[in-house]
Amino acid sequence: MKYRFIDGNGQEYLPDVEQWRPEEGIFNIKSYDVSFPKEKLIKRQSTMWRYKEALPFDNSEAYSQVTLGEGMTPLVLLEREQPNFYVKLDYLMPTGSFKDRGAAVLIAKAVELGAASVIADSSGNAGTAVAAYCARANLDCRIYVPSSTSEKKLAQIEAHGAKIFKVQGSREDTAEAAKKAVEEEKAFYASHVYNPFFYEGTKTFAFEIWEQLDYEVPDKVILPVGNGTLVLGAYIGFQNLKSAGVTDKLPEIIAVQSEGCAPIADAFHSNEKVSLVETSHTQAEGIAIADPQRGDQIIEAVRETKGTIIVAPEQDIVLARKELAGKGFYVEPTTAATYAAYRTYQPQLVDSNELVVLSLCGSGLKK
Ligand SMILES: Cc1ncc(COP(=O)(O)O)c(C=O)c1O
Repeated sequence: MKYRFIDGNGQEYLPDVEQWRPEEGIFNIKSYDVSFPKEKLIKRQSTMWRYKEALPFDNSEAYSQVTLGEGMTPLVLLEREQPNFYVKLDYLMPTGSFKDRGAAVLIAKAVELGAASVIADSSGNAGTAVAAYCARANLDCRIYVPSSTSEKKLAQIEAHGAKIFKVQGSREDTAEAAKKAVEEEKAFYASHVYNPFFYEGTKTFAFEIWEQLDYEVPDKVILPVGNGTLVLGAYIGFQNLKSAGVTDKLPEIIAVQSEGCAPIADAFHSNEKVSLVETSHTQAEGIAIADPQRGDQIIEAVRETKGTIIVAPEQDIVLARKELAGKGFYVEPTTAATYAAYRTYQPQLVDSNELVVLSLCGSGLKK
């Protein structure tokens, strides 16, 4: 099998149902050859599966049972008068967030590997996405969530037929409860944090932007970051485009954390390793990750692109959300935080002649 996991020491592993982490550290995917045959791509369906030469499947049977038509979300100008500044509308995905990209690949892999049941933990959107794709794939699904998760996200997870386990305590306590259940029950851990197949899905965000910008990559992308599924996915995706020779540019990644929970931004600016931080309440629940397992990897990726990490002022999130809605984009507070940070730092961050894409990746209907 050519799609293997690799650990920090370079040791390779064949993915299976039960092993979700190596002896030490965290799994990444071993890089494999990718290509982007333009003349074939344009004839294919308008979904993220059009990039099949850059996805970790040997045959399309594996994902055709699972797909809900995700991907190829619109890329539109934020304002008609601002010609180089685009927003990518990933909130228009089947379950209302970009997590569908990762969940579609991950659950297709779970099916391919022969999993019978799936466990995941989430602050909401990843759990919703995993629940929906498990429903599609007819897989038994259990989702662990912090008890503070919004009612609408809980209702959505339940509606897809997944069983919900509410955990009192922090997001980290929720992850621990899920891991314990995975170990005890030998279930497939559909973790968007630990399983690198998730990032093989979120990387399609970069491929689509390249195609939608007429085979150009932007100068900068502005993305939210908690556990890094979008930031690392985008990084891997732009790297894939570069290694395939269809661009020689890597966009600067500008990652956004929230004021109440910013371990990666703190470590980035103080040149330290990422460590667990004390948090205060933030409306941006999707990026409130106090102990991100891939924190140092995220910093490395952002540095390699010559990007930066900024923090959204908490008091601006409501206004930013209103402003976006006033332009026609109805997004959840976590997404509004990305825009709030951009508004605050705009003069230092972006020149008007630069080509920029900001992600709008969570639907306002959820909260
Ligand atoms: C809407 C939204 N934006 C951003 C994020 C952050 O993603 P990640 O934690 O993988 O960096 C999430 C995560 O749940 C989310 O739901």
